[in-house]
Amino acid sequence: MISKYSITAIILHWSIAFLIIANIAFAMIPAPKPIHEFLMDLHLPFGMLVLLLVIGRILWRLGHRPPAKPETLASWEVWLSRIVHFLFYALMILVPLSGWVWMSAENYPVSMFGLFEVPMLPVDQSKAFKEVMHERHEVLGLTTLGLVLLHVIGALKHQYLDRMPFIQRMWP
Ligand code: HEM
Ligand code: HEM
Repeated sequence: MISKYSITAIILHWSIAFLIIANIAFAMIPAPKPIHEFLMDLHLPFGMLVLLLVIGRILWRLGHRPPAKPETLASWEVWLSRIVHFLFYALMILVPLSGWVWMSAENYPVSMFGLFEVPMLPVDQSKAFKEVMHERHEVLGLTTLGLVLLHVIGALKHQYLDRMPFIQRMWP
């Protein structure tokens, strides 16, 4: 028997992973202007949902220990996964927050699927600050993409090269 994450952890993991992967694709896939604008109308509220969900996920995680790691993992693998998971939690806050600060500096309200607007943050509206936030959001977003690739390669390595039921740990 393998030890598994709880159903709450699994639902949060996959709903947030879906929103993040969709958001990276929406922003980066080259598309004609009207399509890009439509996708960005989803990117902003998807990102705000990630921020909301990850606050819940972190609070929940503080009270619940993850299942024990498989004993066959090398100690460097255990440490690398701990670092990557910690960085994910930081980025899942910092990436959407940097987007929200940037859009507040641009005086551009974030519409949640046309239902309501997210309040704007009281931030500097100078050109220099807008440029800094734009750059930070891009760098943090691309760092997230790099970590997702590393994380998926790690999961696939354990599943198929080490031949252990690893992805099942995070699957209902
Ligand atoms: C944006 C995409 C993703 C993010 C941000 C993400 C984030 C995370 C985080 C933070 C954890 C650690 C949970 C904890 O202990 O608190 C985790 C675990 C896990 N994730 Fe992901 N994940 C993503 C996508 C994926 C994908 C596509 C796969 C499948 C290939 C996957 C497979 C797993 C597995 C198997 C674990 C358990 C790892 C272990 O037991 O050490 N994840 N993920
Ligand atoms: C999990 C959440 C998010 C992720 C992973 C993410 C990721 C990204 C990435 C990878 C890019 C493209 C960078 C590049 O072109 O090099 C981008 C662009 C952008 N993001 Fe986000 N983002 C998120 C949330 C947000 C939020 C909450 C906002 C605003 C409230 C936002 C606003 C923008 C804008 C305006 C762009 C520029 C798009 C364009 O070039 O037309 N993002 N984001």
